Amino acid sequence: MSLESDILPASFGRRSTGELACEGTPLSAIAKAHGTPLYLYSARAIREAYQAFSSALPAQSTQICYAVKANPTLGILDLLAREGAGFDIVSEGELFRVLKAGGQAARCVFSGVGKRDHEIVEALKLGVGCINVESADELHRLSALASGLQRVAPVSIRINPDIDSLTHPYISTGLKENKFGVPVEQALGVYQLAQSLPGLKVLGVDCHIGSQITSLSPFLDTTDRVLAFVDELSAAGISIDHIDLGGGLGICYHDETPPSAGALLKSVASRVAAWASARNRPPPKLVFEFGRAIVGRAGVLLTEVVFLKPGDTKNFAIIDAGMNDLLRPSLYEAWHEVFAVKLDSREPQRQWDLVGPVCESGDWLARDRGLSLSQGDLLVLASAGAYGCSMASNYNSRPRPAEVLVEQDGTHRVIRLRESLDDLIRGETV
Ligand code: LLP
Repeated sequence: MSLESDILPASFGRRSTGELACEGTPLSAIAKAHGTPLYLYSARAIREAYQAFSSALPAQSTQICYAVKANPTLGILDLLAREGAGFDIVSEGELFRVLKAGGQAARCVFSGVGKRDHEIVEALKLGVGCINVESADELHRLSALASGLQRVAPVSIRINPDIDSLTHPYISTGLKENKFGVPVEQALGVYQLAQSLPGLKVLGVDCHIGSQITSLSPFLDTTDRVLAFVDELSAAGISIDHIDLGGGLGICYHDETPPSAGALLKSVASRVAAWASARNRPPPKLVFEFGRAIVGRAGVLLTEVVFLKPGDTKNFAIIDAGMNDLLRPSLYEAWHEVFAVKLDSREPQRQWDLVGPVCESGDWLARDRGLSLSQGDLLVLASAGAYGCSMASNYNSRPRPAEVLVEQDGTHRVIRLRESLDDLIRGETV
């Protein structure tokens, strides 16, 4: 694999000159207008990825909540809110962004292991659709805060099913050794607690086992585990309206072959339908919290080769994007495919490590890639739409990149300005 057409969405392609373009607009023109490093997203690719989820199952029985952490830029949230998406939020800040972008609090689920009082109060006042509670402690706190406000908090409890999502250990969340959720053996007790505390209304069961999951089986195992737990709840006289199976569907960065959105949702829904019909009850509503699979493929990081440093043991190409702009390679040894924007280089192909300007040896974005490079060449790091700009930092006092959204008609707009030097010191005093 690793062909451009497998990795990049259909909105990207080569012009007759060989130059890479998005919806026909050459990436070099966008780089010239807005500088590099720059995150560039295809609006069509995001819409199509979202619609693959939203059209897979009947809308009245499913809610797709986009996981804001994957890419929280207002222009992206606005696009998804217009598509009818709900949102999975993990902080007051994410809720603030969703509302600024025109999303509705009632269509948000609020996840996270460490919600603070002020965040919970804000969520209750604004009418968030469901609060996914991760511990008995949190449940007590939520009950007290909701009672104090004379409100009823809509709740799900996140269960930890102890299922291996077969992904990178840093982004696996459904194992006993992970900090997330209530161990499934203790979960019934926590639901009984929820029934007994004031100010709470139990709506559902929640689960999220990890991210960049590339096979169907962990999702189906989770569905079975959650349904078996719903049986336990029913036996104890507790009924629920929905099950939230989290997010986690992976994308192709290199040679992975994840199931399609439609295949995943349809398989899960048929499991749930069979379970419900065997019990002669209506199936619960299904909630999902996908992030990466909605925005991941749609974005690239556009960068320029600053210097070349060929050597005896390694050839280094120093690019203007660093680990502060795209942390995934340094943090997870993640692979992002590299494509040259123009194909006119006369240099011979060599194996290059693409490294950034940050003062760390861990500041690499790609290793041992066969490329023909010259100074000033433009490159893209593919599949950077999720957890790219959202994890960018100002390390080494580097302003974060601009973000540009390209529409289907080839027009583009800056959805976030490149940070200025003044942005870097905002809020600081001498
Ligand atoms: N729901 C919850 C409760 C989550 O914690 C997450 C992701 C999601 C949904 C969305 O998962 P997705 O569909 O995007 O896989 N920074 C890492 C990924 C961390 C994911 C954290 N939680 C990366 O760059 O790979």
